[in-house]
Amino acid sequence: MAWWHCNKPTSLTNTSTSHTLFITIAFAFFISQSFGARILQPHNSLPFIWPLPAKFSFGNETLSVDPTLSLTGNGAASPIVRAAFDRYKGIVFKNSNSYGFLRTVNVAYDVTKLNVVVRSKSEELQLGVDESYNLFVAKVSGSGGITIEANTVFGVLRGLETFSQLCSFDYSTKTVQIYKAPVSIRDKPRFPYRGLLLDTSRHYLPIDVIKQIIESMSYAKFNVLHWHIVDTQSFPLEVPTYPKLWKGSYSKWERYTVEDAYDIVNFSKMRGINVMAEVDVPGHAESWGAGYPDIWPSPTCRSPLDVTKKFTFDVLSGIMTDIRKIFPFELFHLGGDEVNTDCWTNTTHVNKWLQVHNMTANDAYQYFVLKAQSMALLKNWSPVNWEETFNTFPRKLHPRTVVHNWLGPGVCPKVVARGLRCIFSNQGVWYLDHIDVPWDVVYNAEPLEGIHEASQQKLVLGGEVCMWAERADTSDVQQTIWPRAAAAAERLWSTTQYTSGGNSNSTAFSRLQYFRCLLNRRGVPAAPVTNFYARTAPIGPGSCFDQ
Ligand SMILES: *[C@@H]1O[C@H](CO)[C@@H](O)[C@H](O)[C@H]1NC(C)=O
Ligand SMILES: *[C@@H]1O[C@H](CO)[C@@H](O)[C@H](O)[C@H]1NC(C)=O
Ligand SMILES: *[C@@H]1O[C@H](CO)[C@@H](O)[C@H](O)[C@H]1NC(C)=O
Ligand SMILES: *[C@@H]1O[C@H](CO)[C@@H](O)[C@H](O)[C@H]1NC(C)=O
Ligand SMILES: *[C@@H]1O[C@H](CO)[C@@H](O)[C@H](O)[C@H]1NC(C)=O
Repeated sequence: MAWWHCNKPTSLTNTSTSHTLFITIAFAFFISQSFGARILQPHNSLPFIWPLPAKFSFGNETLSVDPTLSLTGNGAASPIVRAAFDRYKGIVFKNSNSYGFLRTVNVAYDVTKLNVVVRSKSEELQLGVDESYNLFVAKVSGSGGITIEANTVFGVLRGLETFSQLCSFDYSTKTVQIYKAPVSIRDKPRFPYRGLLLDTSRHYLPIDVIKQIIESMSYAKFNVLHWHIVDTQSFPLEVPTYPKLWKGSYSKWERYTVEDAYDIVNFSKMRGINVMAEVDVPGHAESWGAGYPDIWPSPTCRSPLDVTKKFTFDVLSGIMTDIRKIFPFELFHLGGDEVNTDCWTNTTHVNKWLQVHNMTANDAYQYFVLKAQSMALLKNWSPVNWEETFNTFPRKLHPRTVVHNWLGPGVCPKVVARGLRCIFSNQGVWYLDHIDVPWDVVYNAEPLEGIHEASQQKLVLGGEVCMWAERADTSDVQQTIWPRAAAAAERLWSTTQYTSGGNSNSTAFSRLQYFRCLLNRRGVPAAPVTNFYARTAPIGPGSCFDQ
């Protein structure tokens, strides 16, 4: 009970009476499930930390936190940790710092130091980097302070996020408080790959908006930004070796320079987020021909890229060489989806080439994908391909291939049975542009469904929610992503002990509402949790915590 009193605004109990029937019913359910008679059962006392930590225990003391909190321990030597500490101080002490007069002098705060201990000096961010951490908040009477221990600075970042979620501004004392000390949290992710796809081809997203999204990803402990940079409609990226490629941008103001791309990768790394670039071939590439029309089979039949020409592969190789310098992540996405080969079979010179090489159009599709894979492998990338490649020629893909599911359920079980790695993004549950998919369907999706052997389960790297941008731009992209992406984030981070079966829906619902309000407080325009169409406005007046 105490947890709720401390962390939920008490006005919640008074403000839910005048809404629509639906909200009233949902609210009554919420109270009876979460705060009623079964309050002492473990899943009814889940902390309002999103995603839920692997292990946690809490006491019942309240501690005040010094707005001039200092960073100690060997972690203070890391620029990544120091920058994150400053960011989180800005978040946690927003109220107390923005108005100097709220600061009380001569107040003895319970917590004045945050001690960060990091074991590894390496700050290389890669797939599978250790993100585990322990977080301890001592009792007032004890040695005092807060400790975060981690093997890497990226574990520290996850611990700092959890720390920020333990802190609440108390409006009566005007101090930041931690409730339920002492706190002991031992946490680590369930999956090494927890991604969000952004599509900057269907609509251009300004750099600042991409950064806002990356920042918000770190609040939910996502660790991969899958940047679907270019596609059929536009080619916004600068490629120095082939400088006419970005003639395929919508306008000369909707472009990314090489420096912009470096900036995105740097900004992400500071938040423990890898950037996986995608250059989707041979379909989804019509925009390349705006600068280099020779890359089309013909001026009137423009997709897929011309498989017959050396020039096509020279351009692809040039792109890879240029962007390999920018994107250090070991995964590189080569697309390979939705390839309609009609333009190959019905363009005279391509058709002739197929005959000379004794290839069907499907053979040529395989030839293109495998050639692109070997080029990526030579640059020491592991290729990622959409599932059609696996569905069409499963035995031919390179063993380092990661297959990216999207068409439906049941693909990852087949992929891992063949010993390949898989990323789960079943469109029915994890495509965020499907705005009629409710949060609980996102939440209950299970990347390991149908995979029972531990050795095969390990091959599922994790999953990714996809924000395709045909109908999302700066005006609505963030409210389309949030809060539903958070539902997937918890599925990917947290153990299933509390998040599957039993009462998990109702406990997750109240916690997700809380997290959505936290996003709002941090300036993220996350939409109400209960909307039928995910990103629409609230249906009436009411508390953030009820919607
Ligand atoms: C806090 O917890 C301690 C130890 O479990 C217990 O003895 C004490 O009564 C609790 N205090 C309150 C105010 O609940
Ligand atoms: C990112 O850029 C900043 C500013 O130039 C620099 O201080 C920092 O070290 C860079 N971080 C990484 C991880 O490269
Ligand atoms: C070739 O195929 C494309 C794609 O299906 C179609 O649009 C086009 O009309 C076809 N051209 C001819 C000459 O059949
Ligand atoms: C063409 O390919 C088919 C199927 O792979 C094969 O059976 C046939 O022998 C090949 N023909 C020549 C001339 O290579
Ligand atoms: C949770 O919600 C999902 C989706 O609505 C439903 O399929 C599942 O049965 C629910 N689980 C429980 C335990 O209520």
